[in-house]
Amino acid sequence: MIKLNGEVTDRENFFQGADPFELIEKYGSPLYIYNERILRQRVREMKNLVSYENFRVNFSAKANSNIAFLQIVKDEGIDVDAMSPGEIEAELMAGFKPENILYISNNVSEEEMQYAINKGIKTSVDSLSQLEQYGRLNPGGKVAVRFNPGVGAGHHKKVITGGKETKFGVNEEYIPQVKEILEKYSLTLIGINQHIGSLFMDGGSYIEGAKNLINIAKHFEDLEFIDLGGGFGIPYKKQYGEERLNLSGLGEKLSEFIEAFVSEYGKKLIFKIEPGRYISAECGLLLGQVHAVKMNGDEKYIGTDLGFNVLARPMMYDSFHGIEVYTKRENPEKVTEIASIVGNICETGDIIAGKRELPVIHEGDIIGVLDAGAYGMVMSSNYNNRLRPAEVFIRENGEVKLVRKRDNIEDLLKNYISL
Ligand code: LLP
Repeated sequence: MIKLNGEVTDRENFFQGADPFELIEKYGSPLYIYNERILRQRVREMKNLVSYENFRVNFSAKANSNIAFLQIVKDEGIDVDAMSPGEIEAELMAGFKPENILYISNNVSEEEMQYAINKGIKTSVDSLSQLEQYGRLNPGGKVAVRFNPGVGAGHHKKVITGGKETKFGVNEEYIPQVKEILEKYSLTLIGINQHIGSLFMDGGSYIEGAKNLINIAKHFEDLEFIDLGGGFGIPYKKQYGEERLNLSGLGEKLSEFIEAFVSEYGKKLIFKIEPGRYISAECGLLLGQVHAVKMNGDEKYIGTDLGFNVLARPMMYDSFHGIEVYTKRENPEKVTEIASIVGNICETGDIIAGKRELPVIHEGDIIGVLDAGAYGMVMSSNYNNRLRPAEVFIRENGEVKLVRKRDNIEDLLKNYISL
């Protein structure tokens, strides 16, 4: 096997001796692969972000909720957040205790809210009506509220969750109404949280949002935690030299104002962050096979099994993922050319890498899609009645472990009822 442009996976020693061709042969294609060592390293970087003693990291499991993945995250000693009862169940299955889970609900039914209350899971609500609902269901209880800090950030307008144009959070101007509802149901506000959006590479707006949230915190006396949200970016263009997020610079600024706030507030309350992507993206690689190569007019298309049913991000947000090419050919060309890597779904937008400068690719080659560990498998679907891929871990000792079986045809058809 020859890697035609494998600098990133070589540098990271991603495969640790495993062979992409053998992995696909054994587990099928496409295939999600996670590297345990890299995952643990990213968790540790987040844990060390801030020096403040009561600092906690919640992994945002919406980015990757594979049970084995969550088990490793848990083993590193951090907590999790959840967006749905399904995520909560996955977290409990992975061994998290209810007290280590924060349910960040958004427009949930009474049943879903009641479910979290019954399990004893701390819940954050993000509107006055949901705060009322919580009060009706659990009078005298403890609750958190998600505020909109007035700033947003993100790689695409669809993932900016703070500022003016978003459905999320309660605006600062409603603090008096929040207080009224708390009083009406004898609720204690134990936490406030925010999430300004997903993927920033410059911490400016995160700091600004955090400062705004802290000003909101000053209105409430019984807080046990302040949760500053996720959004920490990773360099998707690392093949082209994109720099990493400056974590130490950001961490220093955060530590500074956390310490200042805590002494003013008079209580060493918990400060949390909720990274999803930063922890999970870079330990994940998606493999797929090349089944066809063709010219359409002047355009070269590399036809693969990597449709947007497997990785939705490029189709959904025009997201960029680095591509590596692995081959068994003996004398691969040493030149590059412009080509588009497309999937097998019946839509023209089914493009995983459009008009990219790539090594010359042939049928039978394998494509490695970098940074696929976050919002990859969790956003995959059975569109076109295709089977969702298997997931494997490369353990720290190099052993390869299957952690989710590939769908089979029975999985696909089991819920249908014939007339
Ligand atoms: N906390 C809350 C309340 C969130 O809604 C999210 C992400 C996170 C934390 C974690 O954000 P992160 O650290 O991963 O940026 N599917 C999109 C990303 C959607 C993010 C949704 N919320 C993508 O593939 O880019």
